[in-house]
Amino acid sequence: MLRTTTCGALTIKNLGETVTLCGWVQKSRDLGGMTFIDIRDRYGITQLVFNMDDNRDLCEAARNLGREFVIKASGQVVERSNKNPKMPTGEVEIKITGLEVLNAAKLPPFMIEDETDGGDDLRMKYRYLDLRRNPVRNNMIIRHKIAQAVRRYLDGLDFIEVETPVLIKSTPEGARDFVVPSRMNAGEFYALPQSPQTFKQLLMVSGFDRYFQIVKCFRDEDLRADRQPEFTQIDCEMSFIEQEDILNTFEGLIRTLFKEIKNFDLPEVPRMQYADAMRLYGSDKPDTRFEMQFVELNEVVKGKDFPIFDNAELVIGINAKGCAGYTRKQVDELTDFIKRPQIGGTGLIYLRHNEDGTLKSSVDKFYNEDELKSWSDALKTQPGDLVLVMAGNKDKVRKQLSELRLEMGTRLGLRDKHSFSALWVLDFPLLEWDEESERFHAMHHPFTSPKPEDIALLSTNPGEVRANAYDMVINGTEVGGGSIRIHDRALQALMFSHLGFSAEEAQKQFGFLMDAFEFGAPPHGGIAFGFDRLCSIFAGLDSIRDVIAFPKNNSGRDVMIDSPSTIDEKQLNELKIKSTV
Ligand code: AMO
Repeated sequence: MLRTTTCGALTIKNLGETVTLCGWVQKSRDLGGMTFIDIRDRYGITQLVFNMDDNRDLCEAARNLGREFVIKASGQVVERSNKNPKMPTGEVEIKITGLEVLNAAKLPPFMIEDETDGGDDLRMKYRYLDLRRNPVRNNMIIRHKIAQAVRRYLDGLDFIEVETPVLIKSTPEGARDFVVPSRMNAGEFYALPQSPQTFKQLLMVSGFDRYFQIVKCFRDEDLRADRQPEFTQIDCEMSFIEQEDILNTFEGLIRTLFKEIKNFDLPEVPRMQYADAMRLYGSDKPDTRFEMQFVELNEVVKGKDFPIFDNAELVIGINAKGCAGYTRKQVDELTDFIKRPQIGGTGLIYLRHNEDGTLKSSVDKFYNEDELKSWSDALKTQPGDLVLVMAGNKDKVRKQLSELRLEMGTRLGLRDKHSFSALWVLDFPLLEWDEESERFHAMHHPFTSPKPEDIALLSTNPGEVRANAYDMVINGTEVGGGSIRIHDRALQALMFSHLGFSAEEAQKQFGFLMDAFEFGAPPHGGIAFGFDRLCSIFAGLDSIRDVIAFPKNNSGRDVMIDSPSTIDEKQLNELKIKSTV
């Protein structure tokens, strides 16, 4: 070892010891006769002191040290006259007797401080310097701790960690695949896994019984704050279980993580049907840190010659408590918010329940005081509340009001990052209609089992079939999802035919799995958690980028290594790929 201790370890207990520290120069102060250097490593910062009267050469050398130089310094631990109670090492300093520059450093392009002056792009380009900063490194430490706690919990329950391949086969279901050309099989491509789904099911056929893997997954989809093209799942599968067993086992995992990482006792996780989540929150991942549930108003508002309500499939409202005092400008802001193209609302109607008890709406022309009273009753308003109402096509208006509900939650400070609300959403539809391809798609994936009591509906009303599928939602983020699987060849084949596959196509794409089902497949099911999403929630962050050591930017680029990039003609030729440039 080049050092005897780290920069975060020394306290008053070590007075008089001779030590050697290695690290980076955080800052230096030259006071003429004395020079002070703060030396930093992962563990902390220690003050080094150089005295002109003791050793002139050393003091001169210290003066020449620049920020981020890598040094090795030896000396004696002494008590500081000017103590810093904010630092664990703040009572001591090292009186230096030996100094070696291990490596000089250029001036970094931004300050290596907790609050830095570097913008996003610069920090990403020099991510290795950004990772020197405490808040960024601490996020990686939280990630590490969560990974270790996950392994301990699952190992304790006899789960076996198995690695599955990264070069697999492209399939038409799910998101877009990233593909990798094969040199040895010209014209053919591997795909990177969107998840290890089929492999973990095969491991159940192999009798592994309980599997997990903390595993990289790849999806070529549009990026958002909670999506990266390569991300990590805690992927799990179990045999001889029912849905209830999965929910209990993995609720246990999440509660253990909250306890170990945040010392927070997560209460028992409530369960909600998908249909109720859509009806009450307009979302399959409701943020349940606050109430503000939807109230359906068709019965209350229709038939009063107000065409917008009369012509709408659904009229719904929320009660924004305490917002009756919103100014005209504030209400206009909300209208502008829902009219943004990403949201696509057409208009917002309000009802103020004024402090004096009177009711005032933006549609007073159509509704008298008594009629408005029935709105206010439906939404259980009190003086001071503001009702926001939207109308339109059922699915669209629910989505739009859901966005407005979240916006109101944010404005009212109801979405504190340090409070946590988890929810199981159960009984998802098995299939969803896709307008573009004009066919049903599996809402979760094609291996998900329909509820046995709904199987008959598959041929008559496929959109109504419910799946044995579940998501876990924390603070409005889908952190995990899974299902009980089909383990019977005939049912799996039926499922593919409902998804528009011919028998030949199904055999070509997924024959390996259906064949395996004929060799003794146990009933099984599982779940995968978005590891990055869990980490960002635990770390109180808005974006999963901050819990990934080397993330991609919003265009899917790694600006540090400048990837993706073109490859040279020779490589293209080897891969038998024609250059288009
Ligand atoms: P699913 O597609 O729901 O299920 O993914 C599981 C969880 O992974 C996270 N996630 C992502 N995180 C970051 N970036 C992304 N692009 C991204 N996409 C998904 C989410 C999600 O809940 N094989 C099934 C699981 C199963 O059935 O067991 C699967 O992959 O938190």
